[in-house]
Amino acid sequence: MNTEEKPKETVRVWDPVVRIGHWAIVIAFFIAYLSGDEFQGIHHWAGYTVASLVVIRLVWGLLGTRHARFSSFVTGPRAVFRYLRGLMSGKADRHLGHNPAGAAMIIALLLSLAGTTLSGMSLLAVEDGRGPLAGVVATQQSSADPVRETRSYSDDDENDHEYGDDGSGEVLETVHSAFTYLTLGLVALHILGVVASSFAHRENLVRAMFTGRKKPLS
Ligand code: HEM
Ligand code: HEM
Repeated sequence: MNTEEKPKETVRVWDPVVRIGHWAIVIAFFIAYLSGDEFQGIHHWAGYTVASLVVIRLVWGLLGTRHARFSSFVTGPRAVFRYLRGLMSGKADRHLGHNPAGAAMIIALLLSLAGTTLSGMSLLAVEDGRGPLAGVVATQQSSADPVRETRSYSDDDENDHEYGDDGSGEVLETVHSAFTYLTLGLVALHILGVVASSFAHRENLVRAMFTGRKKPLS
């Protein structure tokens, strides 16, 4: 008998959509981050991957398995602060699904990722007239100012922005950058939270995000 594997002592918590989705977001986010400056082809596709995974996660949060549903883990601020106080004093309640502070962070991360990808797509639309938002963001601008559209198309300097000459490209670049760094800051806190909760409850939460299994509540 193999005494090291004790499947009966753990319960399934995270389904494959949550687990594979999580690690795929992590990989795609860092590919998008590292390619942002130079490799635009890779950058856009990594960004679209993040955006699609966020949409899938949002839908799964409504329709998914028990611990994946937002209704099972999103709480009000009081529960978040109670959990954080408990963490400081070593008396935080253990949760089988996400704890209240982790849950608040997850919502913040998903919103920040949505902001990062939407601002990226808007930037691409305004700068190059390309991407899924080209018909939405850039067409509205160009039809509002047909003279500028004609002028920019006749200008073939490749560094010139066809649509963003009114400064909206620069604003969006700042917004896109700000969301990227906001996400990075949240990720740092997220990892800190994962480590703190893992110590507090003496369980390896990172491993649980791979295996999907945790010890049951006693
Ligand atoms: C780009 C970086 C990251 C993002 C955007 C991110 C985002 C998320 C999201 C959205 C969830 C919720 C999972 C779900 O319910 O679907 C989550 C959970 C989790 N993440 Fe991350 N994550 C990142 C990096 C990491 C890293 C590097 C680690 C490992 C140290 C990690 C460990 C975990 C763990 C353990 C959970 C489950 C927390 C719990 O048990 O309540 N994450 N993360
Ligand atoms: C989570 C996903 C994303 C991350 C982390 C990210 C990050 C970055 C970073 C770090 C830069 C360089 C900014 C700078 O030099 O100041 C950048 C630029 C840019 N990103 Fe993203 N981005 C993401 C998604 C997207 C998406 C989905 C699109 C559009 C499809 C996009 C379009 C752009 C464009 C057009 C630029 C400007 C490139 C240039 O003109 O030099 N990004 N992004």
